[in-house]
Amino acid sequence: MLIAPSLLSCDFSRFRDEIIRVDEAGADIMHLDVMDGHFVPNLTFGAPVIKKLRDATEKPFDAHLMISEPHRYINDFADAGADIISFHTECKSDIDATLRLIEARGVKPALAIKPNTPADAVLPYLERLYMVLVMTVEPGFGGQSFMPDMMEKVICLKKEIRSRGLDTLIEVDGGIAKNTIATAAAAGVDICVAGTAVFGAPDAKAAIDELRALCG
Ligand code: DX5
Ligand code: ZN
Repeated sequence: MLIAPSLLSCDFSRFRDEIIRVDEAGADIMHLDVMDGHFVPNLTFGAPVIKKLRDATEKPFDAHLMISEPHRYINDFADAGADIISFHTECKSDIDATLRLIEARGVKPALAIKPNTPADAVLPYLERLYMVLVMTVEPGFGGQSFMPDMMEKVICLKKEIRSRGLDTLIEVDGGIAKNTIATAAAAGVDICVAGTAVFGAPDAKAAIDELRALCG
């Protein structure tokens, strides 16, 4: 299981130090939640901030775009050094065209689905995706409760990925903690995003180690 701390829960006044802290604590991937106040009712940061932080770590940057028109900003996030760009099937941009923009930049493309969106929404694109992001909370805020029903989508996607002979990864995001990560692992999740569970813990390394250990 790969652990991707969500920087949404970090101390933003010490953003760079927080990245270094979770890097040293054993984070596999840095999950960066980009929100525009339209697609979700919250605002965070954009490509200029990510660009300034890029050299804080060598770990991959996973930019989770919770924005209405991702196609307008793909080049900015690629220039900023994002290794993975996830955008939502529910956005206003054309999915195929947005994937082509990401592919053209040599960035790993990922599609994200909100809790009410069926797994079917990503199936036409599966061959082109590095990762599928299954939201286990309504996007917008950290600290919400994990939705176990979403594991049905993970199981369905895993089956489809296997039957097509693909190596597409499955990431879940929202409410991942000591009491939920085993459920995600059992369903076949490859990457768990964890905000509160890592940044809300007194010792980030202990928290990450424990999450990983609970996956068996
Ligand atoms: C929510 C974000 C998540 C969030 C997860 O919209 O996409 O990455 O930070 O936070 P926790 O782990 O606290 O649920
Ligand atoms: Zn996220």
